[in-house]
Amino acid sequence: MELSVSIKDLSVAYGVVKVLEGLDLDIGKGEFIVLLGPSGCGKSTLLNCIAGLLDVSGGQVIIEGKNVTWEEPKDRGIGMVFQSYALYPQMSVERNLSFGLRVSGMKRDEIDKRVARAAEILQIEPLMARKPAHLSGGQRQRVAIGRALVRDVDVFLFDEPLSNLDAKLRSDLRVEIKRLHQRLKNTMIYVTHDQIEAMTLADRIAVMKDGVIQQLDTPHGVYHRPVNHFVAGFIGSPTMNFMEGDLSGTGSDAVIQLEGLKVPMKGYEFAEGGAVAGAGKAILGVRPEHVLVGKAAANMPVTVEIEVEIVEPMGADVVAWTQVAGKSFTFRTDSEILLKPGDKVTIGFDPARASLFDQKTGHRL
Ligand SMILES: Nc1ncnc2c1ncn2[C@@H]1O[C@H](COP(=O)(O)OP(=O)(O)OP(=O)(O)O)[C@@H](O)[C@H]1O
Ligand SMILES: [Mg+2]
Repeated sequence: MELSVSIKDLSVAYGVVKVLEGLDLDIGKGEFIVLLGPSGCGKSTLLNCIAGLLDVSGGQVIIEGKNVTWEEPKDRGIGMVFQSYALYPQMSVERNLSFGLRVSGMKRDEIDKRVARAAEILQIEPLMARKPAHLSGGQRQRVAIGRALVRDVDVFLFDEPLSNLDAKLRSDLRVEIKRLHQRLKNTMIYVTHDQIEAMTLADRIAVMKDGVIQQLDTPHGVYHRPVNHFVAGFIGSPTMNFMEGDLSGTGSDAVIQLEGLKVPMKGYEFAEGGAVAGAGKAILGVRPEHVLVGKAAANMPVTVEIEVEIVEPMGADVVAWTQVAGKSFTFRTDSEILLKPGDKVTIGFDPARASLFDQKTGHRL
């Protein structure tokens, strides 16, 4: 992989509070990386270090082969888009886009060319004469992206650029950002706590918690093979069902005994050393969307008779709540299956698609 951005042994502290410690991250040229994690986990801190807006207490930031750890933001070859799109209110869209270039002393015709190109890509040409106050939230956000775009940089940094927008606009702009990346093919580092944004946009997701990258993997990888209990619970909606039990046996003979339910882990692919390490207290994780209901459940290796407690219609599908092995359990099914509270039905799942975690360490088994 040809590297675009490389973070080496990075540490950041606010006073005595260490936010990042010895963090390493390599990002390939043209890669779309999403930093995902709960509020306060250090996403913006990491992005601001890459941008040069924050002094590091240790380590290095390398961009396009150059050590920029102590360079000014403007000398790093980056463009940044923030959550609050601080546009200049007294300037037209055209002047907002060209301002940075004019200040840098660029020639007029080069400025015009770049502004026209950004406006075309972002489809804001008809808005060029307007002031920000006369734009919708989504249009303003596009102008903010445009300001980064005209700088013609190697690396784009986004910090929750869509979080101020309503749901519909957010999903529209999400697609536009994806299109932008497919067209420009430059490196993008995108911070969000929205797992849908992360899953849809990223080539790879860095799932963070307490300043530590828990898993750096493709959307497919973090969803299907979460490395620990935290990542498993953070990715997916509704959340993965977790049930504690005693794990015995190894490999394809492994069995987890839950409260009143024995689950043979046939077909489950243990992580390296997982089957051995896991003998003892473990957690079985089952995604709500991997549960089948009624007739379809009959062929599943594990079936359970349950009583439906709550039904949440979602349009295309339905989320239902019940109890399995003494724990609250949700499953997602086609809305063609009519479920109502009090219904007694069979549900089933395949342990090969489930996850197992060590109860003590939380690591995937
Ligand atoms: N200027 C500061 N002084 C002291 N502590 C700070 C400062 N800025 C951030 N922190 C702390 O550093 C940690 C990481 O903050 P950061 O802003 O990077 O989180 P984040 O992942 O971007 O969260 P959010 O999703 O809420 O934006 C938090 O615990 C926060 O309280
Ligand atoms: Mg933040």
